[in-house]
Amino acid sequence: MIDRLAIVGLGLLGGSIAKAARARSLAREIIAVGRSAERLEPARRDGTVDRVSTDLSAGLDGADFCVLATPVTTLLDLLPAVCEALPAGALLTDVGSTKARIVAAAERLAGARPLFFIGSHPMAGAEQAGYGVARADLLDGATVVLTPTAQSDAGALERVGALWQALGARLVHLDPATHDRAVAAVSHLPHLVADALVDAVVRMDSGFFEVAARGFKDTTRIAAASPPVWREIYHDNRPALAEALAAFRKSLDHLEDMVAAPDGAALERELARIKQVRERLR
Ligand SMILES: NC(=O)c1ccc[n+]([C@@H]2O[C@H](COP(=O)([O-])OP(=O)(O)OC[C@H]3O[C@@H](n4cnc5c(N)ncnc54)[C@H](OP(=O)(O)O)[C@@H]3O)[C@@H](O)[C@H]2O)c1
Repeated sequence: MIDRLAIVGLGLLGGSIAKAARARSLAREIIAVGRSAERLEPARRDGTVDRVSTDLSAGLDGADFCVLATPVTTLLDLLPAVCEALPAGALLTDVGSTKARIVAAAERLAGARPLFFIGSHPMAGAEQAGYGVARADLLDGATVVLTPTAQSDAGALERVGALWQALGARLVHLDPATHDRAVAAVSHLPHLVADALVDAVVRMDSGFFEVAARGFKDTTRIAAASPPVWREIYHDNRPALAEALAAFRKSLDHLEDMVAAPDGAALERELARIKQVRERLR
């Protein structure tokens, strides 16, 4: 059991972790740290957290486990102060959607204290933001990617993994660079493509939205995600996103060529191949 769990950034992810930790009695005390007392107050009032603080040092004082759940650039900016404020020996993780820069910075800062840091990325979310949409079951059955490195402490890796499992998640381990390439392919590229799909219709004729049915709405649901959160993810993962976009352009060009060609059977075989791959996804 965690004694004092501090969550910095009580939005969709941070709020959902706090709610699940409270529902499952995983911490004796839960403290939310943020920049607006007014926005943190609902979580204290509904009993999800015991205390709120807009002061990092006061909020992290005595915490034995800290989860950083702010947007990725903010998270990088906050790391030096967070590592300074946490008591030596504390366990630190984050939920940032990109990992290479965060893990490198956190390991450098944590090593100097010393603290124990393990990067995490819960593959669960929603297109809405803020504590108001946080849910205790967000992580139930979700995959959480842990990104240990050669520097990681085995005991810390086990304890961070144990928290996610206690919150209902299953674990996958990837090194930070592989994580960033994988999520560029299966998360960041689909988000950007959803943005482009909506934009393409606007460029053709916004009136066409009138006849959009479930297929279009399902495919573009994530284009309604938080712009501040996604701006930072796209920017922080630029190289891997560029690689994923290049692969996507090749696929699009290939399919465009097949649609333009008169060979219907070849196009159908290609669609059948892709359908088979998609059907293997659970
Ligand atoms: N959304 C997803 O689908 C998803 C999935 C997996 C991982 N993630 C990652 O999770 C993290 C949080 O995303 P989210 O979707 O939970 O966003 P969110 O709902 O917008 O929550 C972000 C939280 O960070 C707080 N914050 C922002 N700047 C801060 C600062 N300077 N000091 C303290 N708190 C600050 C915000 O507080 P205010 O109320 O003051 O703005 C808000 O509570 C991001 O790193 C994102 O990459 C997101």
